Amino acid sequence: MKVDGKVMRTIWVEPDGWSVGIIDQTALPHRFATARLTSLDEVAHAIRAMLVRGAPLIGAAAAYGICLALRADASDEALDRAYALLLATRPTAINLKWALDEMMAAVRNRPRAERGAAAYRRAAEICDEDVAINIAIGRNGLPLIEAIAARKKAGERVNVLTHCNAGWLATVDVGTATAPIYLAHDNGLPVHVFADETRPRNQGASLTAWELGQHGVPHTVIADNTGGHLMQHGLVDLIIVGTDRVTRNGDVCNKIGTYLKALAARDNNVPFYVALPSPTIDFAVADGVAEIPIEQRGADEVATMTGRTVDGRIETVRIVPDGSAAANYAFDVTPARLVTGLITERGVIAATRASLASAFPERAGDRPTEHR
Ligand code: MRU
Repeated sequence: MKVDGKVMRTIWVEPDGWSVGIIDQTALPHRFATARLTSLDEVAHAIRAMLVRGAPLIGAAAAYGICLALRADASDEALDRAYALLLATRPTAINLKWALDEMMAAVRNRPRAERGAAAYRRAAEICDEDVAINIAIGRNGLPLIEAIAARKKAGERVNVLTHCNAGWLATVDVGTATAPIYLAHDNGLPVHVFADETRPRNQGASLTAWELGQHGVPHTVIADNTGGHLMQHGLVDLIIVGTDRVTRNGDVCNKIGTYLKALAARDNNVPFYVALPSPTIDFAVADGVAEIPIEQRGADEVATMTGRTVDGRIETVRIVPDGSAAANYAFDVTPARLVTGLITERGVIAATRASLASAFPERAGDRPTEHR
């Protein structure tokens, strides 16, 4: 994707050949900043504090965390420690575990002297695979937008609602939920996006709006509770969201508030699609509500808001009375029955056990991996 006309990814190896560059997403949308990560601890911090976020990018960053850990110490013990430390950074996105398992498989059975180079190779492949998958998701999701456009009068816009940020900032490039949107826009379709602001961290208002703006896609930021009203008035043609984990039965875990959008969509006959790369499928888990660990983050994210003042300063202000408790559940689960379809790199499929197993037969037998 382009930032101010320059082609970029969200994560890269710096010209020194080993340190890792990232876009610091905590500075957006008011400032574009990059950061250089040089150690395992810096990568773990970047994931925890959400300088990098979004399930696929969390996985890619963790892969480079293993690379940096191995530079410092290539022993089995150091590898196991790095795996455990990174796995604990954020509990919900299964891409994190997927990427760490891929890294372990790439380095574990090699002599120590070869581990570093093998790790950097596999991490780069994970990034390239993510981009290729997202391009395929875009191609597979495009006909959904084309079909709606074909039913409309010439020039009438197709309104897509999305929640949180499942755009290129959440991946290595291209994005998942946004991939069909960018392709539709590039193909000249009049697509318009309603971006849920996505409290408490405002990924929709800060990140989705920013990246859609960079690409020139018309969009409108809405308060989180607006979607139901828009759907009742026929103003949403289609919902596309991303996901942090899809169970083998097709339950979808995504940013808190996604479930409410799916309920409103069902009540108003609005198609509700979920875009996902296959590393987001967790075949080891069946019932999303019962089995997916939901991250709870600090209450401060709910009790405060950060933004730019009229004179250009970035300030954090408290919006909750002193003494009031605040709870910060970061994700929720949308049951498969509310999902119209899953947009994957292998096509648009039903959110069912049979469809997932038949689209990804090589993964369908996955069970939890133990590395110790
Ligand atoms: O807490 P975040 O910002 O990491 O949450 C991101 C999401 O919920 C995304 O929708 C999901 O990770 C899919 S990203 C392609």
